[in-house]
Amino acid sequence: MKIVLLLSCIALTCAKRFDGDQVLTLFPKAPAHLKLIKEFGSIDGLADFWSPDSADLVSIGKSVDVRFSTKNIRVVKRKLEKVGMEYEVKIFNVQSLIDNQFDVPRKSKAALAYDYDVYHTADEIIAWSDDIAARYPSLAKSETAGSTTEGRDIKKLTLGSKTTNPMFVIDCGIHAREWISPAVCQCFVNRMLSSYGTDSQVTTMMDALTFIVFPVLNVDGYAYSWTDDRMWRKTRSNYGTVCYGVDPNRNFDAEWSGPGSSSNPCSETYYGPQCASEPLTNVLQDFITDNNGNIRAYVTFHSYGQQYIYPYSCKRQDAENADELAALAFDSTEAIYAVNKKTFTFGSGHATMYLAAGGSDDFAIDNGVPISYTIELRDEGRYGFLLPESQIGDSCTEIYPALDVISKYIM
Ligand code: ARG
Ligand code: ZN
Repeated sequence: MKIVLLLSCIALTCAKRFDGDQVLTLFPKAPAHLKLIKEFGSIDGLADFWSPDSADLVSIGKSVDVRFSTKNIRVVKRKLEKVGMEYEVKIFNVQSLIDNQFDVPRKSKAALAYDYDVYHTADEIIAWSDDIAARYPSLAKSETAGSTTEGRDIKKLTLGSKTTNPMFVIDCGIHAREWISPAVCQCFVNRMLSSYGTDSQVTTMMDALTFIVFPVLNVDGYAYSWTDDRMWRKTRSNYGTVCYGVDPNRNFDAEWSGPGSSSNPCSETYYGPQCASEPLTNVLQDFITDNNGNIRAYVTFHSYGQQYIYPYSCKRQDAENADELAALAFDSTEAIYAVNKKTFTFGSGHATMYLAAGGSDDFAIDNGVPISYTIELRDEGRYGFLLPESQIGDSCTEIYPALDVISKYIM
């Protein structure tokens, strides 16, 4: 308890608090319900949409997770009851889950080894990238691929016994508050490096492919989610408006500014003042276009929802190889299930999720990468973005064989 308290003080000094905030799951079943949800969405600062990502993406018949602050919760519930919309309280007190994320005891400093079972700050991840590459000089290289609006390094790791093999590009941390995502990139890198030479599957994959891992792309947003606002999603750029941040996953050159993205800088799905306005978007787009023809697969890790999404999300159209993407997603999600019995669903974005233009997955497939997935990691909403550290280990071990399925397929 003492440790938890101490940690939250160090990590979240002066950070916004969420005492008494609740996450409600709403079940809109009629136009009047939809109308009320959109109304909630139009009032600045009232509703924080967890799933889907904004009010525009809500539709009748699909449940919605939304956080309301403690001062509004009573009025909100009254309105829901008035229009006859069913709801349930998914998270009773958001702050208590924030405190509970740090539920793994810290290793003593003397243990020296990097701890993959806890969440790390942006600075720690940046330092780790260089450190781990330095420990495995024949298998890894760490580079700074660009720098963010606030001047932080965007790190890129290149893994494999050769740097010229066909590539598998993996990124994490496009959205700041999805902390499990960077955690999974880190444990994956460690696993590929530490098991080389002893695990024959890992050795084969590392000999046949070059893995490119961006451990945290939205570095500024991620840092801000530690220091100021645990619920921050976007980047931290400002283009002269009251609100900060662009949704990086609406900023890519894939029907940019199209459906499911917003022109309003205060929206959580703001597409930005121009296409690829954000440094991280540029870094990833440039990498993909510079290596056109050499990248066989792209995976971007988000949370939460336990699903595989493949193109397109920017338009109502299937990718040419939709059958292939479905079959591989099937095999990959089966591999996940075999580890901890967690069910991951899959489907094209436009058909199974919602239209949302400007995403990195659609950009990848349109720029020469045949296999492209957004993977929404744990969980299904019990903790949502606030997944406790004690679930990092299992999230990692279930994802390894899933990525192996994709790796073997593209070898
Ligand atoms: N939750 C993710 C987002 O809204 C899903 C991304 C799916 N892909 C896409 N191109 N919209 O950013
Ligand atoms: Zn996301």
